[in-house]
Amino acid sequence: EAQLQLREVAGIPLQASTVDNWNQIQNFEAKPDDLLICTYPKSGTTWIQEIVDMIEHNGDVEKCQRAIIQHRHPFIEWARPPQPSARNAKDCMVSYYHFQRMNQMLPDPGTWEEYFETFISGKVGWGSWYDHVKGWWEIKDRYQILFLFYEDIKQDPKHEIQKVMQFMGKNLDETVLDKIVQETSFEKMKENPMVNRSTVPKSILDQSISPFMRKGTVGDWKNHFTVAQNERFNEIYRQKMEGSSIHFTEL
Ligand code: A3P
Repeated sequence: EAQLQLREVAGIPLQASTVDNWNQIQNFEAKPDDLLICTYPKSGTTWIQEIVDMIEHNGDVEKCQRAIIQHRHPFIEWARPPQPSARNAKDCMVSYYHFQRMNQMLPDPGTWEEYFETFISGKVGWGSWYDHVKGWWEIKDRYQILFLFYEDIKQDPKHEIQKVMQFMGKNLDETVLDKIVQETSFEKMKENPMVNRSTVPKSILDQSISPFMRKGTVGDWKNHFTVAQNERFNEIYRQKMEGSSIHFTEL
């Protein structure tokens, strides 16, 4: 139990394994053509990883099946520029709650009511959603950063995948793009053992509690938030995001 407690580094609660690798993380130096994916947890990390890998390999499914996604895109916080992807805070909170229920390496989230407070206080693994999203949004024009929204990819995957392709300096034809859209759909990825975490032991990720590929939708927060929670959330959101021009289609 104790080892599951998050430990703070520079004010950010982190999983123990991340803390153990802190030196490596701080000393990480990107090479000029590195592409870093900087998602807040549960914002579609796996999705964008698969999209990037598909683009990199010109839509070759077999090449993308060479290894599980965690090995094709090592996590900097665990192993060793940037493309943040943001998902609206409400759906993100719901997804994170179910993830903490099934992830045996993270603290038990408690009840939904308890988790709601934990999330808005920012005391969740890898820190506050508000700080992450606000921070990347603020600097996105100063560096070579492609800022994507989960909701946009969901609504028009082809258009967003095309943006990623251009950012990566690739030029794939229409049929390849269509294939990537198909192969990275939620339905396909849920069945794909190279991305759905089915190879991770149950002692780490217990998918009988909640599947890793859970719902993959926009607006599931409406099935979780009470009216009172929603009002409280909106008020705190306004305070925390004050001064930021970022706009989410789902809020
Ligand atoms: P839900 O829990 O709402 O279903 P991460 O990879 O950062 O941990 O994010 C996980 C979330 O992204 C989960 O959300 C998961 O279902 C969703 N997701 C993964 N692949 C997806 C896809 N191809 N399309 C839509 N959502 C996807």
